[in-house]
Amino acid sequence: MAAARAQAPPRRLPGPFDPDAETAYRGWRERKLREAPADLDALRVRVRDPRALTGAEHAALAECVRRANMALYDSPIVAADKDLPRLLARQFGLSRLDRNWLADDDGISSVAVAEGGGRGDYIPYTDKPIRWHTDGYYNPPARRIRAMVLHCVRSAAAGGENALLDHEIAYLLMRDEDPALVRALMQPDAMTIPARTDDVGVVRPAETGPVFHVDAQSGALHMRYTARTRSIEWKDDPAVRAAAAFLERLLAGPSTHAHRVTLRPGMGLLCNNVLHERTAFADDPARPRLIYRARYYDRIATGSA
Ligand SMILES: [Fe+2]
Repeated sequence: MAAARAQAPPRRLPGPFDPDAETAYRGWRERKLREAPADLDALRVRVRDPRALTGAEHAALAECVRRANMALYDSPIVAADKDLPRLLARQFGLSRLDRNWLADDDGISSVAVAEGGGRGDYIPYTDKPIRWHTDGYYNPPARRIRAMVLHCVRSAAAGGENALLDHEIAYLLMRDEDPALVRALMQPDAMTIPARTDDVGVVRPAETGPVFHVDAQSGALHMRYTARTRSIEWKDDPAVRAAAAFLERLLAGPSTHAHRVTLRPGMGLLCNNVLHERTAFADDPARPRLIYRARYYDRIATGSA
């Protein structure tokens, strides 16, 4: 019997994200708000070399992620070296890269304004603003993006600011408004991204799924969302429509919980795929904006429950 007790107990369900678990939610909510970083500086960690963090640097970044699902590392290294995001990520247990046809061969995308070649059809590869979203919202469940790193090699001459919002905060604010709203967005058919087609045929099939999803094993909350209004179909359900409208208002309005940052060369974002947007920007043609983007199926290991 002693041996049985020594084994790790199975995760207790329901966790705080279960709409029926009011007590678990209340405890989690109180801690979440108490620990929420007050400003961007509380999320920023100066590091000497992202490829080989010191114990203190790693602990500081992990603590930011534990509290807010995101952290900013600020390094003096301005080299165009993909090992900067790759090796940083590996130190947090991120190894399973999502590879898509727009990514470079090694699975890390070089996000810059593209002329032709197909990439220019996709808004990340333009200088246009990108509305609020989480990455990979069009991916099937087997390719769910749980974490990502954005590493800045060169910033724009003007603009290119990111806004970041912890998706757990979005969940919290919505559940406080009305638990029926989060319940609606947890439906497996809440949101459909229609198939993408080109001259040849279907590039990506339609993808239907929930907005909020709780991982059965880890209990972590995942969010699948885009604020775009074209190429998205919300379930024909009054509660889903009300929830989508709530999110739209929340993200369009001034939020005390959103953090705004313009990444500078050597800086990067490490996050559990939080909500984010990007403003338009203007490049210096001699030094165009370049961001490395690495998307992972893993969630960031912070060393805590
Ligand atoms: Fe993104």
